[in-house]
Amino acid sequence: MKEFKRYMVTSALPYANGPVHIGHLAGVYIPSDIYVRYLRLKGKDVLWVCGSDEHGVPITLKAKKEGKHPQEIVDKYHEIIKKSFKDLGISFDIYHRTSAKIHHETAAGIFKTIHDKNGFIEKTTEQYYDPEARQFLADRYITGTCPHCGYEKAYGDQCEKCGTSLSATELINPKSTISGAKPELKPTKHWFLPLDTYEPFLKKWILEEHKEWKPNVYGQCKSWIDQGLQPRAVSRDLDWGVPVPVENAEGKVLYVWFDAPIGYISATKALTPDWEKYWKDKDTKLVHFIGKDNIVFHCIIFPSMLKAEGSYILPDNVPANEFLNLEGDKISTSRNWAVWLHEYLEEFPGKQDVLRYVLTANAPETKDNDFTWKDFQARNNNELVAILGNFVNRAIVLTGKYFDGLVPERINPDEADTAVLNEISEIRQKVEHSIENFRFREAMKEAMNLARLGNKYLAETEPWKLIKTDEDKVKTILNIALQISASLSIVLEPFLPFTAEKIRKILAIDKIVWDDLGNHDLLKAGHKIGKAELLFAKIEDKEIEYQVNKLLATKEQNKEESHEPVKDEISYDDFMKMDIRSGVILEAEKVPKTKKLLKLKVDTGVDQRTIVSGIAEYFKPEEIIGKQVSLLLNLAPRKIRGIQSQGMILMAEDKNGKLYFVAPQENIKPGALIK
Ligand code: 2FM
Ligand code: ZN
Repeated sequence: MKEFKRYMVTSALPYANGPVHIGHLAGVYIPSDIYVRYLRLKGKDVLWVCGSDEHGVPITLKAKKEGKHPQEIVDKYHEIIKKSFKDLGISFDIYHRTSAKIHHETAAGIFKTIHDKNGFIEKTTEQYYDPEARQFLADRYITGTCPHCGYEKAYGDQCEKCGTSLSATELINPKSTISGAKPELKPTKHWFLPLDTYEPFLKKWILEEHKEWKPNVYGQCKSWIDQGLQPRAVSRDLDWGVPVPVENAEGKVLYVWFDAPIGYISATKALTPDWEKYWKDKDTKLVHFIGKDNIVFHCIIFPSMLKAEGSYILPDNVPANEFLNLEGDKISTSRNWAVWLHEYLEEFPGKQDVLRYVLTANAPETKDNDFTWKDFQARNNNELVAILGNFVNRAIVLTGKYFDGLVPERINPDEADTAVLNEISEIRQKVEHSIENFRFREAMKEAMNLARLGNKYLAETEPWKLIKTDEDKVKTILNIALQISASLSIVLEPFLPFTAEKIRKILAIDKIVWDDLGNHDLLKAGHKIGKAELLFAKIEDKEIEYQVNKLLATKEQNKEESHEPVKDEISYDDFMKMDIRSGVILEAEKVPKTKKLLKLKVDTGVDQRTIVSGIAEYFKPEEIIGKQVSLLLNLAPRKIRGIQSQGMILMAEDKNGKLYFVAPQENIKPGALIK
C-alpha cells in the first residue's frame, strides 16, 4: 500500500433544508469522525472538512413551502446542523457553507477554467417551463402521475412510491408545483460535461486501479460505466445558486451537484492558506465519506470535473455506506420518520457516546441496517454499562479502596498476567487494520474486547478475595487492570471520545497518543488517580417507551394525512353506466359460518331483491332493518356462499376499515336515482 504524506478527508455536505438524523450519522459522519480521530492520534497530517450544501432545488422548495427566502432557510438549518454536530463530538476542522463568497468564487473559478479549455458542450434542449410563474421548472418542481405505478404525486425526477427514476417529460398530466399550471416545453441553453469522453479514464482509474474499493461502491461504478455515460448538464435555470460565470448566461446557475463537491475545496481554502498541498499534491490521500446515493457524483462526475480542470488529485477511496432504516421503515424527512440529532441531544443529555456506539455497532457498512430503540437500550445496558463501565469502575474503586488511589506496583507478574498485557498490542493491531480498511464496526468490537478482557481477568483473579491473603498479587492485578483502563482511554478515543476523556480525567492522564497503546506502564506506580465516576447509566424501559410512542404518533399522523391514490380518469358516459338508487333494507340475517356476510332483502323501488353484503362485523341484522341505503343496481349478479347476490350496498370505509352507510340524508322513496 502506498504511504501518503498527508490526508484530506471530506464528508458529504448535508443539505441545509432540515436537521441531521441518525441515518446521516451512521452512514457518513460517525465513520469519518472515527477515521479522522484515529489519524490525528497517530500524529498524521490530516484535514477534515464538511459544511452545509446550501444550493439546489431542495432548498428552494423548502423556502417556497415556508414562504421564506432561501437564504433564511439555509441560515437557520446551517446553525442547527453545525451545533448538533459539535455537540455530538463530530470534530471537523471546519464546518463551512456553500453560500459563502469564497465558495462562489472557487466554484465559478473551476467552471471557468474548464470552460476556457473547451471542456463543456453547449446545447439547447427543450425543458418544462411554467407559463404562469414565468420560469423553467427543475424536475422536482413538477409532479404528475408515474407512468410505471400510477402514483399521482410522482416528482419529475423520481417516483417515491415505486422508486423509479424518471425524467419530467415521462410524467402523465404534469403540473407545476409553483403555480399548478400545466408546464410547456420551451428551448433553453445549458452547459454539459461530456462524461462519455471520460469513460476510458474512469474505466482504467476505477475498474482497474481501484479494485480494493468497497464492493458496493465498485459495483455501482462498474454498472454506471458499463451502461455507457452521457453528457451531463451542469447548469440550471434557477435564481438560487452560483451564477454561471460566462457571458450570455443570465438566469443560469451551476447545477448543485457541480458546486457542492467543490465545497470541499472552498472549505479547505477557508481553513488554511496552505490548502493547495492538500488538493494538488499526489502525496495526499483524498478520502470521501458519503452515503450510497452519492456514489455516482463522487466517483464519476466530480473526478471527471477535476480531471477536466487538470490540476487536482483524485480520491484514493470513497468508502460509501448503505442506508440505515428506523424500526423497519425507511428514514424519511418528509414523513418525519427519523430520530433527529438535535432532539436526541436534548432528550438524552450526556449520552452522546451511547448514540455513537449504537450507530457504529449497527453501521450499514455492507448492507442496509435497522435502528431500533430496543437494540439501543440493550446495547447500552448489556455492553456499555455491563462490560465497559463495569470494568473501569471496578479497577478504580478497588485501587481507591486498597491503595488510597495510588497506582500499585507490578510484583513478579506471572505468565497469565503478562499474557493479558501482551494482548493490548494485539488488539491495537486489529483495530488499526480494521480502521484503515474502513471497517469501523469490526474495529470498535475489537476495541471493546479490551474491556471484555479486563473483566475476564478480574473475574478470574478475584482480587477482592485475594486481598486478605496476598496483597502483592492484588497490587499486580490492579496495576494491570489500570494499564488496561488507560489503554481503553486511547483505543476508544476515536469511537467514544466523551467516555475516553472521562476515563483519562479519572485516571489523571493528560495527553495520549496512539503509539502509547501497548506500553505497559502508561500509569507509573505511585501515580495518584481520582475518584470513580459512573461512565454509563442504565436506560430504563420508560425512556424507550417514550421514544417508541413518539414514533407511533408519527405513524398515526402519517396515516391520517395519507390517502388512497386517485383512480384512473373515467368519462361521464362511464359514470352514467352505473345505476345507483336509494333503497330500504327489509330483512337481514347472518350468512351461516361466515364472519362478515349478511344476507339482505332490499326494496329497490323496482323490485325486492337479495343482496349479500360484507358488513356483519359492524352491524347487527336487527339494527339495520328499515335502514335507508344507496344501491348499485345493475352490478352483474354473483353467487356468494351459494346465495345469488343482485347488486351492491354502497358503504364508506375509514382508515381502520370501519364501514358506514352512505345514503340520502332525508327520507326518500326507494328507487330515487342517485347521480
Ligand atoms: O445528498 C446530499 O445530502 C447532498 N447534499 C450531498 C452533497 S455531497 C458533496 F458533494 F457536497
Ligand atoms: Zn411509480
